[in-house]
Amino acid sequence: MSVLPIYTYGSTVLRKKAKPINEVSDEIITLVMDMFETMRAANGIGLAATQVGSLHRVLVIDISDLEETKGLPPMTVINPEVLSREGSWMMEEGCLSIPDVRDDVERAEQIVIRYKDAQFNDVELNATGILARVLLHEIDHLNGVLFIDHISSMKKKTHHKELKQIQHGEIEVTYPVVTAAGVSV
Ligand code: CO
Repeated sequence: MSVLPIYTYGSTVLRKKAKPINEVSDEIITLVMDMFETMRAANGIGLAATQVGSLHRVLVIDISDLEETKGLPPMTVINPEVLSREGSWMMEEGCLSIPDVRDDVERAEQIVIRYKDAQFNDVELNATGILARVLLHEIDHLNGVLFIDHISSMKKKTHHKELKQIQHGEIEVTYPVVTAAGVSV
């Protein structure tokens, strides 16, 4: 297993739409294992393939350390589809691809998703609260959408300087990254 560098804000791959996976090949198994390793090395709770430069439609989540979801088994989510969304709530979010930028994001409170698990079995899941939020954040990544796309342009302006710095590779992180400037930190 290896820790992969995480692509940061401004990288074109973060704006691409990931493509459905047809089977859990050795390549996919390795990708998923590396994504878990990468997420844990960066102290993240979720990671989408686009964040490590891959256009396979898969994300991983581990929120087992959070108070609300203590002990929830880590999840591998392949080809997710959101079937329904209900309610809405605000919570502050961050993203490993946008280090040191945090802001409130409004998201559905309750969702139903369909996906394939690591064994490529069909799963239909009812998710609420933080699990729904992390899933929606990561599914967004697979569609080329970032959490800052959900905040108003006025609020986004308050992050202008930090976003520019990230684009220029002027960031301090404790995990390996690839910036839009092409520098690996
Ligand atoms: Co993110």
